[in-house]
Amino acid sequence: MGDESSADHAGAGFAAGLAPWLERLDNLRNVVRQQLVSRQLDAHLPRTTDGPLRVLDVGAGQGTQALRLARAGHTVTAVEPSPGMREAFLRAAAALEGDARQRVTLLDGDVTALSHLTSPAAYDVVMCHGVLMYLPESGPAMSQLARCAAPGALVSVVARNSDALAWRPSIRHDWTAALHLLDEQERALAEGRDAFYLNEIGVRARADRPDELMATVEREGLLVEQWYGIRLASDDVGVDAPAPPPDELARIVDLEERLGRTDPYRRMGTLVHIAARAPSAGDF
Ligand SMILES: C[S@@+](CC[C@H](N)C(=O)[O-])C[C@H]1O[C@@H](n2cnc3c(N)ncnc32)[C@H](O)[C@@H]1O
Repeated sequence: MGDESSADHAGAGFAAGLAPWLERLDNLRNVVRQQLVSRQLDAHLPRTTDGPLRVLDVGAGQGTQALRLARAGHTVTAVEPSPGMREAFLRAAAALEGDARQRVTLLDGDVTALSHLTSPAAYDVVMCHGVLMYLPESGPAMSQLARCAAPGALVSVVARNSDALAWRPSIRHDWTAALHLLDEQERALAEGRDAFYLNEIGVRARADRPDELMATVEREGLLVEQWYGIRLASDDVGVDAPAPPPDELARIVDLEERLGRTDPYRRMGTLVHIAARAPSAGDF
C-alpha cells in the first residue's frame, strides 16, 4: 500500500476542523452517521459474480468506509488531500488483516482534479462522503466523480442538507442560532447562491439543497436510485456525547434508517445521502 504525496494541499477548508473531527470519531454522532452510510451503501452495491468491486473513495478521510469495504474483500483506491487525514487513514489501515492491506491504495488528490489520478469509467463504486460542503460548489466535483464511474457503477454522495439547516439548533433549543440560519437560507435563496453555516467542527461550510444536488447528479448522466436523510432524531445530542451501549445504538440506527428513507422525515436529515447509478447497456 502506498501514500503518494504532493505539495498541493487542497482541502484547506477542512483543515481547521481536522483535530476535532478525528477526536470525535467514536462519538454517537459519527458512529450513527457511519453505520447509516454503511447500511445504505450496502443496499446499493453492484451485484457481481466477477470478483471484488473496484471502489474509489474521494475525500476518504480516516477511511471508515474505504477500509470497511477492503475488509469485505473489495479493491479500494482512496483519494485524500490532507496530509493529517492521510496519516489517520494509514494508522487505521495498519490494522487491516490478511491481504486486505494489499487491496488498498491511498493517493494524494483533490475531488476537482481526479483525471490525472484515475482512468475514466474505472470503478464500480465511487464514494464522496462529507466533502462537498468544503467546496465552493458541487457541480465540478460531481462531474469528476461521474467520469470515474463504470457502466452500472454506484455513485454515493453525502452532503449537508441546506433545506434543513435550521433544524439542528431548533431541536437543541438554540433559538437564536436557528433564526440566524433561517435568515441565511432566505438570503441565499434571494441571492441565488448556496447557504453557508458554521459546522460542528468549527468550519464555515456550504450546504446543498437535495433537489438541486440530485439535478446536478442527473446532469452528469447518472440515475438517482434513492436518496436518504441522515441523522434526524439523534441530531440534538452534543458533539461529545459518547456512543451508547450496543443495544441502544442498534435501536437508534434502526430508527434513523427508517426515518431517513421515509417522507417527510428524510427531508429533515442534517445530511443528504444520494445513491446514483451510472447507466449501463440495459438502461438504453
Ligand atoms: C468530514 S471529513 C469526511 C471523511 C470521510 N469521507 C467520511 O465520510 O468519514 C472531510 C474530508 O474531505 C476532505 N476534503 C476536503 N476538501 C477536499 C477536496 N477538495 N477534495 C477531496 N477531499 C477533500 C478532507 O480532507 C477530509 O478528509
